[in-house]
Amino acid sequence: MQSSVGNTDAGKRGMNLTLRIWRQKDPSVKGKMVSYKVTDISPDMSFLEMLDVLNEQLIMQGDDPVAFDHDCREGICGMCGVMINGEAHGPQQTTTCQLHMRSFKDGDKIDIEPWRASPFPVIKDLAVDRRAFDRIIQAGGYISVPTGTAPEAHATPVPKKDSDAAFDAATCIGCGACVAACPNASSMLFTAAKVTHLGLLPQGQPERDDRVVNMVAQQDREGFGGCTNIGECSHACPKGISMETISRLNHDLLGALRAGARPKS
Ligand code: SF4
Ligand code: FES
Repeated sequence: MQSSVGNTDAGKRGMNLTLRIWRQKDPSVKGKMVSYKVTDISPDMSFLEMLDVLNEQLIMQGDDPVAFDHDCREGICGMCGVMINGEAHGPQQTTTCQLHMRSFKDGDKIDIEPWRASPFPVIKDLAVDRRAFDRIIQAGGYISVPTGTAPEAHATPVPKKDSDAAFDAATCIGCGACVAACPNASSMLFTAAKVTHLGLLPQGQPERDDRVVNMVAQQDREGFGGCTNIGECSHACPKGISMETISRLNHDLLGALRAGARPKS
């Protein structure tokens, strides 16, 4: 099936592209790749704006627009994310919303698919259910603190190198590209980022052992694969979360198990 659409706003010097997009009405039916042509696409558009152009035209034609997730469109919420020509978030190490069409050439054929991982089932077209990540966070990605007035900022000194490393880990936006890029569909980089950003800070110490064993147990229950140190996760991560965080997780996990921590059933 093929339909042709155009972007009248972008002017005559825009790119003409062929898109092959995964269309799947709902989780109960089989999906398939469907071809569309888009014309006059400005190189300054974001990838999601290019999909907006396609969707406006599909709606004008009375066709069902392509479903895809997005929210901030500023690279901070983690909602967007699709496989673009087989790469999570496409050819640049950024989020799909921050990928610009200048990364492509006139005449290109672009395959667009949802994240491919069984713990992320397709909801519709390019939108997947990433609640498995929420359940991993619920298993331990928090600290228990008394509520009330915020403590004085200098009351708990944190060494600069620890605060920097904790901040780097905390930049994980939960997009799921690491899982989609990994041949094992492992969520280790995501879980490691969440374990690390709390485990490096004084506030994270009281629950540190329980946190790591419960979060790792939950990711196994969700059906994510094991890490075999391939590194595709870090390569695809738009926030540059490093493989070192996985080493930190393994270090914490071994220490917790040796200390007798066991996951809640
Ligand atoms: S570790 Fe990186 S790729 Fe994985 S969820 Fe976090 S930001 Fe996304
Ligand atoms: S839409 Fe928020 S990170 Fe892309």
